[in-house]
Amino acid sequence: MNDDLETMRAFFDRRADSYETHMKNKVEDSEKFYIEVSNLVPETTGVSILDLGCGTGLELDQIFSRNPTASVTGIDLSDKMLEILRSKHHFRSDQLNLIAGSYFEVEFPSEGFDLAISVQSVHHFGYGQKLSIYNKIFRSLVGNGMYIEADYVVSTEIEEKEYRKRYESLKSVCNVPDGFYHFDLPLSINNQQAVLEKAGFMPVIHHARYGNTSIFISRKPVSK
Ligand SMILES: C[S@@+](CC[C@H](N)C(=O)[O-])C[C@H]1O[C@@H](n2cnc3c(N)ncnc32)[C@H](O)[C@@H]1O
Repeated sequence: MNDDLETMRAFFDRRADSYETHMKNKVEDSEKFYIEVSNLVPETTGVSILDLGCGTGLELDQIFSRNPTASVTGIDLSDKMLEILRSKHHFRSDQLNLIAGSYFEVEFPSEGFDLAISVQSVHHFGYGQKLSIYNKIFRSLVGNGMYIEADYVVSTEIEEKEYRKRYESLKSVCNVPDGFYHFDLPLSINNQQAVLEKAGFMPVIHHARYGNTSIFISRKPVSK
């Protein structure tokens, strides 16, 4: 667990240059879950994808090798992470729309995407904030569209509550103003499933688990 609070943007800006090495060497089975996320992406020509917290694009490296025609809108708070993504995929500038900002604030087009994805980003937010972002994702998807999340979740509610307690106590010790701080707030697997269902996704499938990372596949029903 973290023992101080850095703003989210500063945290990732400072670590952007070493980020990919860290993910590859320190996060259990990261190579496997990035590949599995890409395996779930339709091979349809020009499939439109919204990527929340795209960072340097580790998931997009795999997705473009499976579907080189994908058209991606990526949102991230960190300019430095986006710079790395932009330079890795400079030859795809017509397929990559990169937005520096918060996915809580950036407006998403209604029914604008076939697929939304988020990898290792939304575990920094608790139940209420997750519900608000999932509501936005739900509206941004076409009927039968899919949201794929690969992220840190814990096995039990007891662990979830421990993280929340630690965060509240750090916030009060550090006396920080409201904002986004880099702190892990993983939900339990059951609560993660419940919050996706509450946003209207049906079915929500816990597809796979790699170490502490779970992949959830959530469908937007055609009729909603
Ligand atoms: C651990 S990185 C994951 C990056 C990439 N998806 C990957 O798996 O390699 C988390 C990313 O989420 C971004 N992020 C966190 N909160 C965000 C928010 N509210 N809006 C946009 N991006 C956010 C961070 O800036 C960071 O680049």
